[in-house]
Amino acid sequence: MIPTIARITGTGRGLPARIFTNDDFASIGVETSDEWIVERTGIRERRIAAESETTCWMAAAASRSAMSKAGVTSGEIDVIILSTATPDRLLPATAVDLQAELGATRAAAFDVSAACSGWLYGLTIAEGMIASGAIDTALVVGAEKMSAIIDWTDRSTCVLFGDGAGAVIVQRNKAGEKAGILSTFMRSDGCLADLLYRPHGGAAHPMTKEIVENRSHLVRMAGREVFKHAVREMSEAADRALDSAKLRGADIDLLVPHQANKRIIEATAKHAGIPMSKVYVNVDRFGNTSSASIPIALDEVIEKKIVGPGSTVMMVAFGAGFTWASAIIRL
Ligand code: UT7
Repeated sequence: MIPTIARITGTGRGLPARIFTNDDFASIGVETSDEWIVERTGIRERRIAAESETTCWMAAAASRSAMSKAGVTSGEIDVIILSTATPDRLLPATAVDLQAELGATRAAAFDVSAACSGWLYGLTIAEGMIASGAIDTALVVGAEKMSAIIDWTDRSTCVLFGDGAGAVIVQRNKAGEKAGILSTFMRSDGCLADLLYRPHGGAAHPMTKEIVENRSHLVRMAGREVFKHAVREMSEAADRALDSAKLRGADIDLLVPHQANKRIIEATAKHAGIPMSKVYVNVDRFGNTSSASIPIALDEVIEKKIVGPGSTVMMVAFGAGFTWASAIIRL
């Protein structure tokens, strides 16, 4: 058995109250149908945040729940790693707003920008910081207000995304502990950046009236191309995580994949040799919440007791960049 350095000791989620169904798109003049969205993506509804439900607000709700389940107080957190593609402000990092909100007075805090894979990047960084001896306790959050950066007039993207946050506490293992992070994997390919991106509004092309009028500060995606890469790279990520943990698909009790599209999830599971009965899907209720999707799903499967102590869980993600990543944990 591979000795582990760190384990997840608590999970939580923070979701906006408002449910926006596929049929609700008609009310804002988007020409689509429940039938099209369900058939192509598996999404039936998503949460959409109100103005007061900021990325930090959702992150704080998820974090408080994870801290309470882990029995960790804010003063015990050494680092806050917050993955987001939708920071509340461009400066400073949303992680420091979260640090202030939680009163985590001993914590370093920074954002990770790796799109949908960002929470798994964050988990990997936390494990590394614990391995180095720098810290004992990390709060790793994925929080996204995707509704703020999608083009609500572009039916090919606006139907896909939703808002929400998920969080975990990661702590140093005691000697002989069986639970823990068994393997992690991260990869990127920036040559493909323009297939899923926000063209303008950053430092290279600061915001102007024209940019806002052209909507070129909002998400653009070449859906079909992204789909092909998502299937290929999520499959690779699953292979690498299994290889490093010296496991096979049959050893996995539950696959908790990034929730972008049910068809991508099905293809990834098939490649890894994992039947759909061992795959968690909640994209029907939340849509694609980018880097929040895996920690939200992880919190649900633990709460519903679909997995418990001793279970082996594989997590796989893919997103803008492109970035892709995976991890296998034993609960
Ligand atoms: O987090 C990771 C990042 N994102 C993803 O993983 C998303 C990856 N891509 C996908 O999931 C899929 O490509 C989509 C769900 C975005 C699209 O599905 P598709 O089967 O690839 O459809 P398509 O883009 O090829 O479009 C097919 C048709 C087009 O009409 P024509 O040109 O065939 O007449 C679109 O105009 O569907 C049309 N269409 C829609 N129709 C109704 C596109 N969006 C919609 C819509 N409602 N919302």
